Amino acid sequence: MNHAANFVDSIHNESFEDRYLAKKITHHSMIYDHGREKESLNGYWHFGIDQYDTCLRANWYEEVYEDAEGRSNPMDFSFDEWETMKVPSCWNMQKEKYFYYEGSVVYTRTFQYRNRGEERVFIKFGAVNYDAKIFLNREYLGCHKGGSTPFFVEATGLLQKQNRIIVVANNTRKRNHVPTDNTDWFNYGGIYRDVELIRLPETFMKDFTISLVPDSGFSKIRVELEVEGSKRNGWAEVRIDELGIVFPVEVADGKGAAVIDAKPELWSPEHPKLYEVKVAYENDSIREKIGFREIRVSGTDILLNGNKIFLKGISAHEESVLNGKAVTEEEIIENFTLAKEMNCNYMRLAHYPHTEKAAKIADEMGIMLWEEIPVYWAIQFHNEETYQDAENQLTELIKRDRNRASVIIWSVGNENADTDARLKFMSSLAMKAKELDPTRLVSAACLLDHVHHIIDDRLAEYLDVIGANQYYGWYQTDFNNLIKLFENSKPDKPVIITEFGADAKAGHRGTADDKGTEDCQSDIYRKQVQVLEQIPYVKGISPWILYDFRCPRRLHPITQNYYNTKGLLNADKTYKKPAFYVMQDFYKKIRP
Ligand code: GCU
Repeated sequence: MNHAANFVDSIHNESFEDRYLAKKITHHSMIYDHGREKESLNGYWHFGIDQYDTCLRANWYEEVYEDAEGRSNPMDFSFDEWETMKVPSCWNMQKEKYFYYEGSVVYTRTFQYRNRGEERVFIKFGAVNYDAKIFLNREYLGCHKGGSTPFFVEATGLLQKQNRIIVVANNTRKRNHVPTDNTDWFNYGGIYRDVELIRLPETFMKDFTISLVPDSGFSKIRVELEVEGSKRNGWAEVRIDELGIVFPVEVADGKGAAVIDAKPELWSPEHPKLYEVKVAYENDSIREKIGFREIRVSGTDILLNGNKIFLKGISAHEESVLNGKAVTEEEIIENFTLAKEMNCNYMRLAHYPHTEKAAKIADEMGIMLWEEIPVYWAIQFHNEETYQDAENQLTELIKRDRNRASVIIWSVGNENADTDARLKFMSSLAMKAKELDPTRLVSAACLLDHVHHIIDDRLAEYLDVIGANQYYGWYQTDFNNLIKLFENSKPDKPVIITEFGADAKAGHRGTADDKGTEDCQSDIYRKQVQVLEQIPYVKGISPWILYDFRCPRRLHPITQNYYNTKGLLNADKTYKKPAFYVMQDFYKKIRP
């Protein structure tokens, strides 16, 4: 489109975004990238705040600098003269002037490429909040929605010696999104996880899953493969040298599956045993550390490797004071170390998929995980497009982390009103999770009936474990109703108390009745654990929350100051509130 016509279109075409949204990047374009060589495209990218989406309206990615006669066009942008922004990071944390910015931004960088004999090349984004439109060398590659899961674009055939990649990211909160526009956490924006280039042979393994076969007496391992490329028939080889396993898997029409007899040491928090697994097919190979364990329910018990367990947990957001959502491995290790110090064996990663590094580190450190998609509060449950977005995020999460032994529960949401539309929406998600991964438990953090004081959510029928958020002593001011709740409730499956807690400003003292003080918080914790330990079907707890976190909804100037202060530590995790020790003692004394 010539510049003049483009100018008119860019000011009149109010449905400019439709053509971009029509080209979706979803879980279908995911490739298996664990245990593969990757080249980083991280660094300082050029960056422009684009509140009015002019880049998209005016097709800046086409970089038309001259008209047909060679006359230079007036330019409203100059990519390489823009300021720079660190990738990965949250723009909110890089420049004070962008702390509160929500909207559209343009990231761009150039990079060199030389073919090294590979036939396929992909670019992976660990996550971009919320939607991301990707351009490479003047080509539009598509739009990914969902701010917490990875996506891939294919660059094969598009790469030159010198390349330009452009990402238009937009974190505007919208009613039809997942999460919707109202949440209890800070809406960071940006390319906040790694960007990597992956070189692959013509035929490669697009997907790979491996796990212990449930109910096999811990003596069978199942592998599944999906390959892409011309060589869709052949033999793959699975090697687990430490177990003396070298096993051929027949691949027919691009798919292969096999069950292998094996007696691995079982992964558990006390013994986080991992095995190096190598898989090869044609010229492609994967190498990965895998733990083998079985998780299932029986009646109201949760069984890990056949043993009844209690999930001694804590909830956590993906955030640090310094980096926002772009947490470092050190910060993840710090969280798990604090949880271990509190005698935890489990963590609820709330309310959206955290970085994939978290599950890998949990595999190593021995912490069981609850992973969740942000179907949070008042989602547009009647909206089919919103459902497709949620299901895609769920599928991307499961495809990303289903080889992680630490992940034991997929959660399809948090605190949603029990309407018919919601029941249809979330029961479909629960069934989808089971279909994608029959080896793990499915749950959701359900709201309770605080009128009749009973655990009575219709969604429970579709769940293996019922998650229950309750704030007796805090939002539900009469603590005695907690006992009534358990007396009234007769669930036939395990219940995890996914949240309880109270705000307490670090160091703020008073009496047990002074809300916002440490004394009130630890009093509520003491009363909670005294009741919870007596409830036979409560098989896990993950109090809200490990440390204070940013929240635009919390404006109490003394006890909050734009932080949710329900943490057991302050925001920068330098100070433990007294309630931390209440949980530490409680978890120390109760059974493993
Ligand atoms: C809810 C919700 C959390 C929130 C917490 C609170 O239960 O799930 O996201 O932060 O309550 O009110 O502190």
